[in-house]
Amino acid sequence: MAAQLFRTKNLDKIKADAEGSTEGHLKRSLGAVDLISLGIGAIIGTGIFAVIGTAVAGGPDHLGAGPAVSLSFIITAIACAFCALSYAEFASLVPIAGSAYTYSYATLGEVVAWIIGWDLIIEYAIGNVAVAIGWAAYFHQLFDGLGVHIPAWLSVDYRSAHQAAEAVMAAGGKISPDIALNYEAWVQHPTIFGIPFIFNFLAFGIVALVTWILVIGIKESARANNIMVALKVVILLFFIGVGVQYIKPENWTPFMPNGFKGVWTGASLIFFSFIGFDAISTAAEECKNPGRDMPIGIIGSLIVCTLIYVATAVVLTGIAPWRELGVADPLASAFAHLGLNWIAGIIAFGAVISMTAVLLVFQLGQPRIFFAMSRDGLLPKFFSRVHPKYQTPHVTTIWTGVVVASIAAIANINEIVELTNIGTLFAFVLVNAGIIILRITDPDRPRVFKTPFVPWVPLLGIAMCVYLMLGLPWITWVRFGIWLVVGLAFYFTYGFWNSHLRKKV
Ligand code: ALA
Repeated sequence: MAAQLFRTKNLDKIKADAEGSTEGHLKRSLGAVDLISLGIGAIIGTGIFAVIGTAVAGGPDHLGAGPAVSLSFIITAIACAFCALSYAEFASLVPIAGSAYTYSYATLGEVVAWIIGWDLIIEYAIGNVAVAIGWAAYFHQLFDGLGVHIPAWLSVDYRSAHQAAEAVMAAGGKISPDIALNYEAWVQHPTIFGIPFIFNFLAFGIVALVTWILVIGIKESARANNIMVALKVVILLFFIGVGVQYIKPENWTPFMPNGFKGVWTGASLIFFSFIGFDAISTAAEECKNPGRDMPIGIIGSLIVCTLIYVATAVVLTGIAPWRELGVADPLASAFAHLGLNWIAGIIAFGAVISMTAVLLVFQLGQPRIFFAMSRDGLLPKFFSRVHPKYQTPHVTTIWTGVVVASIAAIANINEIVELTNIGTLFAFVLVNAGIIILRITDPDRPRVFKTPFVPWVPLLGIAMCVYLMLGLPWITWVRFGIWLVVGLAFYFTYGFWNSHLRKKV
């Protein structure tokens, strides 16, 4: 039994299967610069535009980092750098779609591969729920700025509205800016048969639109991606460049209002803004020279984003008092408070485009992971069905869209971000472990890119990821545990029996 659970798929077989798959060969056209651009496309989004606010000001179940959020970014960037080296080694070694799922099938065994595949649903699909909610908040603000008011009860979720109502009562009726929108939803929502109707229609709608685009297969050309990436970077540089002129140094004191604990929990939360550098590895099959370009792409995009993030954090906490930043659209509202509504509008516009790009990348990635799992027999065949006309994996794309949109309509962004982070950090832990194991079990395989100082660098990666996981609330651990148990139940009822490796297909 144990031997079956931990059966591994030979690396050469993985490559052969992918090459013989019905998908055929993907064209190898991407170079290092394209990969960096792809990485930035996946990385810059809700994390830096929205989650940063909660990381600075704190939330219902964690302390805020205050101005020291820049330290939180640096801690998280170091953790990601260790993991990026492991991803780079794997991506150059196994240049096959499927990312961490494929790597672990080759090294840690089938049951671990299944757990990772199941876990990646959290990173991709659940992560996108958070991106959609962040998108809705900025879209709402953007239209408000243009004089079109979308009702708040169509832009937030029930729990946020309810929490806002409680916060207002606790504060004796005083409404702080961070809860204003949520409170408005609570006061104005309609009721249907006595049940409050609060439904984040904006988040639901954008996911539906993205799903439709992906089903009919409008190819996101490298050029369109490059334009969106350039826009993201320009908007953040614009924020930094203009914001610098409005810094009031007194906003930086106290620097660490909640001590190092706040910096730590802030780091655990802000990790969300770095998720995506690992997604570059899913493009390995389309890469001209994966051995050289994958590491450059993964590590290069991480460096660019870290520099921009730290500068953004320093400026943001310099222009507004840290307590006021706990809003859903902190980068825009920081300027709105200064009376600079047109700047706030430009930033809100940039944020909406940035988050749409992230939604596209992850909504595209999820069906590909299902596809890889179905190709191995761990999921039923219909998961790898391809649309006869559009040539897209329409079944999984639509299912992913329905689930993500429905959850986005009712979920609370903080809880979703925390769950995404714990799931992704767990996947990173396993990828780091895989590097160490593969050096022992398959030491002679030619490695174009080698992680330096193995096992120490991957071990540090594991330690940093666990440290960030420990900064998340206990309820997140419980939710994640339940998710894994449900996943294992699925594996033992289906995947274990139908695995192609078991049947030696
Ligand atoms: N890093 C991505 C974002 O912040 C997931 O939107």
